[in-house]
Amino acid sequence: MKIFIDSADLTEIEHAYSQVIVDGITTNPSLLKKALEKRREKDLKQYLRKILLVAKGTPVSLEVTAYTARSMIEEGTKLYQLFNPVAKNVYIKIPINPAFKDADTTHFDGLAAIRELTQRKIPINCTLIFTPEQALLAAKAGAKIVSPFAGRIDDYLRMQQGLKFEKSDYFPATGWIDQGKVWNDNGVVSGIDLVRQCVQVLRQYNLNTEVLAASLRNTRQVREAALVGAHMATMPLEVIQDLLKHPLTYKGMEKFTADLVPEYAELV
Ligand code: E4P
Repeated sequence: MKIFIDSADLTEIEHAYSQVIVDGITTNPSLLKKALEKRREKDLKQYLRKILLVAKGTPVSLEVTAYTARSMIEEGTKLYQLFNPVAKNVYIKIPINPAFKDADTTHFDGLAAIRELTQRKIPINCTLIFTPEQALLAAKAGAKIVSPFAGRIDDYLRMQQGLKFEKSDYFPATGWIDQGKVWNDNGVVSGIDLVRQCVQVLRQYNLNTEVLAASLRNTRQVREAALVGAHMATMPLEVIQDLLKHPLTYKGMEKFTADLVPEYAELV
């Protein structure tokens, strides 16, 4: 499974690329807002170019902000023409269904944009996937990647039941059983279950679309995303760092270091 960093913070991105094996970057408008505010960046074009160069050879998803098919196609094409020449690694992120409350758009605008941009040979990462059927339709429209948001499904299930939780708290992949019933969102019992169902549906029909497990907030979710066959997983830098931690690893290092005899230390 490929590991992506879910960030628009250049310092974090540079750190991740220099220290560990990172296979790509996902950004979204909220991550960019956070990074720009923190860094007081003024020149967004230059800033994005720097990110693309750090990630050279690995994909970087840039999300559109428009929400009608026509405007998403226009924005996606412009973003791609402007930024893909920098390092040839841009994916355009299109929401599966941009018809949020009061928006002047339809349920089909996302699919129309994916289809048209795909015909223009622009690779698409379809975002805000919360059901396997959304993933299926995005794949049929031509998306190269679909991004089920695992963590947000877990939050949603807990919030519906009024459960207090921290964002990073683990939620059981097999679902939360309460008085003999499993909490579920129309048959999806957890974020990881959503990822699993997306993988299964796309595999069943040999669709040429990869599943990127998104919105991951802890290491156990990352492990479970790998176990259910996600092709990629995106996560914040802290979660990438946590992937390496275990108390017995620290303890083992202490013991090996303490046991080091001078002859061994002088070997090389
Ligand atoms: C993925 O592409 C999104 O940027 C991201 O994973 C969303 O994560 P969040 O739910 O933690 O905001």
